[in-house]
Amino acid sequence: MKKAGVIGHPISHSKSPLIHGYWLKKYGIEGIYSAYDIPSESLAEGVNRLIEDGLVGFNVTLPHKQKMLFLCQRLTKSATQIGAVNTVFLNEKGEMVGDNTDAYGFCENLQNLYPDFDWKGKTVAVIGAGGAARAVLYALREKKVGQIRLTNRTKNSADNLGQMYQADVIAWDKKDSIVPDADLIINTTSLGMKGQPPLEIDLSGVTNQTLVYDIVYNPLHTQFLQQARNLGAKTVTGIGMLIHQARPAFQTWFGVMPVVDEEVNKILMPE
Ligand code: ATR
Repeated sequence: MKKAGVIGHPISHSKSPLIHGYWLKKYGIEGIYSAYDIPSESLAEGVNRLIEDGLVGFNVTLPHKQKMLFLCQRLTKSATQIGAVNTVFLNEKGEMVGDNTDAYGFCENLQNLYPDFDWKGKTVAVIGAGGAARAVLYALREKKVGQIRLTNRTKNSADNLGQMYQADVIAWDKKDSIVPDADLIINTTSLGMKGQPPLEIDLSGVTNQTLVYDIVYNPLHTQFLQQARNLGAKTVTGIGMLIHQARPAFQTWFGVMPVVDEEVNKILMPE
């Protein structure tokens, strides 16, 4: 019986056991996927214990995504460049390899909904410069988009990421100006999430060709996406990013690349 799981602190909110548990059942795989609460001060010991217990790998969530970089013997290109690990697997030498599948999940989610979307040369507006923005910016550069406009409440973080990913930084109080002529507009902040204020931005420059993407998935239909839809834009919700980032990890551990179906969406849908 292959064992995998997710580590974090706290961990009870994690949706990963629901996703992987559903796929294990769907594909008839004799495996188990559990949540492990490991506090920061005992991360190294906690991780070593999981490996000794025979886990084939695990997902990493808050607050360990950065610290895990230093505990892995190897890192993939995406983990190195994004500066965070969300997936760990063991290589043939038994070394821990740190990977990051968030950028993959971000792209697959959009492409699944809009298969004809061509990233190359597109003008993209990114709102936010936290951890999620790093994965999104990395993905956008891999996809060879054209201009990236970046805005964030804290200017310093936007300047840093702007330099790393060749993005033009726009001041937070001028954020409405990132909208006109953008082909793709992405919210990577936590604004709009349950318990948080909404993201207030004037989207009136969008057309029926503009794609508006919110990585927030609780609620699924944020005010930001609602505004975009009312203006006729195409929209992408955040739940698919969560599902798609889990697929390559599942394949590495359990040998099957899961296909996303309606059922997994239903299981995760917030009430
Ligand atoms: P994550 O890993 O989910 O991206 P994070 O690294 O804490 O989380 O980043 C949160 C993002 O949401 C940041 O861009 C943050 O802006 P700051 O860099 O200014 O903190 C943004 N954010 C969170 N609350 C916000 C608020 N009330 N107004 C504006 N931006 C906010």
